Amino acid sequence: MEKTTFTQKHLLGIKDLTRNDIELVLKTADSFKDLMNRPVKKVPSLKDTTIVNLFYENSTRTRISFELAEKRLSADTINFATSSSSVSKGETLIDTANNILSMKVDMIVMRHYASGAPHFLSRHVDAAIINAGDGTNEHPTQALLDAYSIREQLGSLQGKKVAILGDIMHSRVALSNIFCLKKLGAEVTVAGPPTLIPKHIKSLGVNVTYNIQEALAWCDVANVLRIQLERQNLPLFSSLREYSLYYGVTKKMLDSLKKEIVLMHPGPINRGVELSSDAADSHHSIILNQVENGVAVRMAVLYLLAGKK
Ligand code: CP
Repeated sequence: MEKTTFTQKHLLGIKDLTRNDIELVLKTADSFKDLMNRPVKKVPSLKDTTIVNLFYENSTRTRISFELAEKRLSADTINFATSSSSVSKGETLIDTANNILSMKVDMIVMRHYASGAPHFLSRHVDAAIINAGDGTNEHPTQALLDAYSIREQLGSLQGKKVAILGDIMHSRVALSNIFCLKKLGAEVTVAGPPTLIPKHIKSLGVNVTYNIQEALAWCDVANVLRIQLERQNLPLFSSLREYSLYYGVTKKMLDSLKKEIVLMHPGPINRGVELSSDAADSHHSIILNQVENGVAVRMAVLYLLAGKK
């Protein structure tokens, strides 16, 4: 496979990427998606590369997807869960990382509950760092797989209207998606309760509405986000029932639009809260396509970053 230039040594956020970087990831992911549909799904590209998946916060999709991507590229992989490690004895992030790296590890895929943790680590250790979600900051590979999935459905992102709905305030998926979609030429509207939309979000070049129906009527793609109760110190809406009533997306709402609409959700879904079960499982939904595409996109990211060594 031909390699062109990827400008980054690490993947810390979409904010740092050029449009060319993003397009290179998506184009490279096309080749890996083809590979995933062949009988032999493995290539030797990352043979002799060792990658540790360092997860300080729970994950289903991202962790499994990265591990599968690494294995399909023939990398040696190690999974690190903080609950069963010496982190529980007080070991610092840098000490943990340096101890792992002294065992000749080449790359670290890291999820952390603190915004900026992967950026901090990238300044202190000599390995490529991939951000697998940091606090409320960024989740770059989610945005890349979301862009890939929209492109697969609609052909291109240029001029497409994407609504991001729900808990924008606490969502790293929202921020990475906004950066990625804008760089690829899409129009973006964020919608949700006023208490869950940051005050200065318009400075990122997005439209704001507090009316979910209005956002749905406007968009080609609706990306519904999870209510992140674990990140809310004070209640920001009165009850889940009320949230669901005023801001939840249902199949009836989507069907009543009388147009094609692509429904996305990064997972995990709070069924019956931000999204009804019948909407999540409807013909509008590409939620499981997103998960499938995540493996190809993460293979592309690992492959391009390994080429920077
Ligand atoms: N979308 C996402 O990040 O899911 P996980 O938390 O399960 O990895």
